[in-house]
Amino acid sequence: MYHKPVLLNESIEGLNINPNGIYFDVTFGGGGHSKEILKNLSEKGRLYAIDRDPDAHENTIKDKRFTLIYGNFRYIKNYIEFYKLESIDGILADFGVSSHQFDISDRGFSFRLGGNLDMRMNPEQTTKASDILNKYSDEDLYKIFRTYCDIHNPGKLVKSIIEYRQQKDFEDIESFIELIKPVMPYQREIKYQAQVFQALRIEVNDEINSLNEFLDSIPYLLTIGGRLSAISYHSLEDKPVKNLIKTGNTRGELQKDFYGQTNLPLKAINRKIIIPNEKEINENPRAKSAKLRIAEKI
Ligand SMILES: C[S@@+](CC[C@H](N)C(=O)[O-])C[C@H]1O[C@@H](n2cnc3c(N)ncnc32)[C@H](O)[C@@H]1O
Repeated sequence: MYHKPVLLNESIEGLNINPNGIYFDVTFGGGGHSKEILKNLSEKGRLYAIDRDPDAHENTIKDKRFTLIYGNFRYIKNYIEFYKLESIDGILADFGVSSHQFDISDRGFSFRLGGNLDMRMNPEQTTKASDILNKYSDEDLYKIFRTYCDIHNPGKLVKSIIEYRQQKDFEDIESFIELIKPVMPYQREIKYQAQVFQALRIEVNDEINSLNEFLDSIPYLLTIGGRLSAISYHSLEDKPVKNLIKTGNTRGELQKDFYGQTNLPLKAINRKIIIPNEKEINENPRAKSAKLRIAEKI
């Protein structure tokens, strides 16, 4: 299976679908969420989906109400202009990586499978994980491992990387894992590798900038009463979503007008974060860290 959708019913219910409305699924993947949105639309409703991975486009849905866009969700505003859409009734985002991307060793996302140090969601992009390891300065490497993961010894890791590449270039996952073995904390090796790979993946795909640009455009795109349903998998994804809902921007800065009033563009629909139940986690362990937030344009 390409990808098992996470929090499917909860996220679709959260959109409170207007059958004649216009919807966006900005992370199409295997199309699980898109198919469910289409079930709730009438003949007049429309669904646009985005994915930057060409593999996801193999899963396109043959339905005249559906359009799949090859691109980055950070440019959603441009796609809306291109298709001359006036108001968007709902946006679904299911951030992160698909199971397919993890499960294909050629793509280089999994430290368990080995393969190339690649990690590009869009293979047309030039920078791979190996380029980062081979070319970034020690300060930039340090910044990535300090900002995008929670390892307690980024300096040690960076030192090993710099020493290694004086002898030869990084190419495959196996040699990178061999290199970092001595710096992995005892009995926390798996978590350490997962974190290091997450940091590299975030940098390769410029995930945080894409996420922030996309989220900051949402208040200007949704129609009043339109909903955002956003599923995130780690705090670097969840925090900007939380900030957006609380303050209207991903930085979490409350904007006040001349009279000192705050005009918030969104209101939270779920006070408590929605997480998968035990049954879903047992059936799909990759759902474990998922967090769903739902907001409405006011
Ligand atoms: C977790 S999967 C989505 C799975 C999907 N909801 C399903 O049910 O099959 C995330 C997908 O979003 C895509 N993606 C991640 N960041 C993106 C971005 N900035 N722009 C467009 N697509 C992106 C990935 O390529 C991946 O296919």
